[in-house]
Amino acid sequence: MINKQRAALEISRQMNIPGRKMDFEFDLENLPRYWHGGDIFKSTYNNALSCLFPEGERMFIDAVRDNQHHVKDEQLLLQVKGFIKQEAIHGHEHAQFNKYLDRLGYPASKVEAFEKKEKVLMKKYLPAIGRLAITSAVEHFTAIMAHDLLTNPKSSEGVDEKFKALWMWHAVEETEHKAVAFDVYQQAGGGYVRRIIAMMIVTLMFCIRVSTVQAIFLWKDGKLFSPKVWMQGIKMYFGKNGLVKNIWRDYVDYYRPSFHPWDHDNRELLAQWIEQGQSYKAV
Ligand SMILES: [Fe+2]
Ligand SMILES: [Fe+2]
Repeated sequence: MINKQRAALEISRQMNIPGRKMDFEFDLENLPRYWHGGDIFKSTYNNALSCLFPEGERMFIDAVRDNQHHVKDEQLLLQVKGFIKQEAIHGHEHAQFNKYLDRLGYPASKVEAFEKKEKVLMKKYLPAIGRLAITSAVEHFTAIMAHDLLTNPKSSEGVDEKFKALWMWHAVEETEHKAVAFDVYQQAGGGYVRRIIAMMIVTLMFCIRVSTVQAIFLWKDGKLFSPKVWMQGIKMYFGKNGLVKNIWRDYVDYYRPSFHPWDHDNRELLAQWIEQGQSYKAV
């Protein structure tokens, strides 16, 4: 077990975390409203996720920044810089995507404004280490969903190329920096109990939040009570290639006391993406 822990930490130390400047543009013409292969549920689910990103990612940046004075390791401090750069660019690109959602008639900026208020309250009432425990939990969530997106062809089947480029790029960078918040949390003296309580709260809040925003979007489209859309939802979550089946084991792994994000070594996905980089550039 100790050897496994050492191996994960060694991988973590070796990770290079570069910021990549992207410039995605989403114009209303020629882009399908249901860009996820025509699947209404999957498209609105991902739209809902996107609305939560800009403020969420700013909150992660703040939480890591507010704890980095505990970090003595130069390599980790360098990775923190890379993490901040990547999350700031993610926030910016998803804000652009969310403007496109506004133009489609979804209340994306209202959701973002709500998130902003919540972020202010969190900063006011939660200690820095608590916000970092939340960040570490959400980072695990995003990393395991990213892994599913990068490895399961069904997860991106039929996705419009322009949207695919955005989501694949985000998934790769979430994989690259998946351990940064966790490693800072460890160096800041964050404990196991706080870490798993944060994960339980995040799981509950994440499900409620995404479902609520998605329900609003479906309502706007007049599809909230469509049996076809509900079937698409059941398939997406619980089907043979569904999200729950694909991420469940990796999710539960977080509750192990000796867990480290790089216990799950998926560096080959990063190498593959960099090799195929041209096809994932903003188009
Ligand atoms: Fe991100
Ligand atoms: Fe992240």
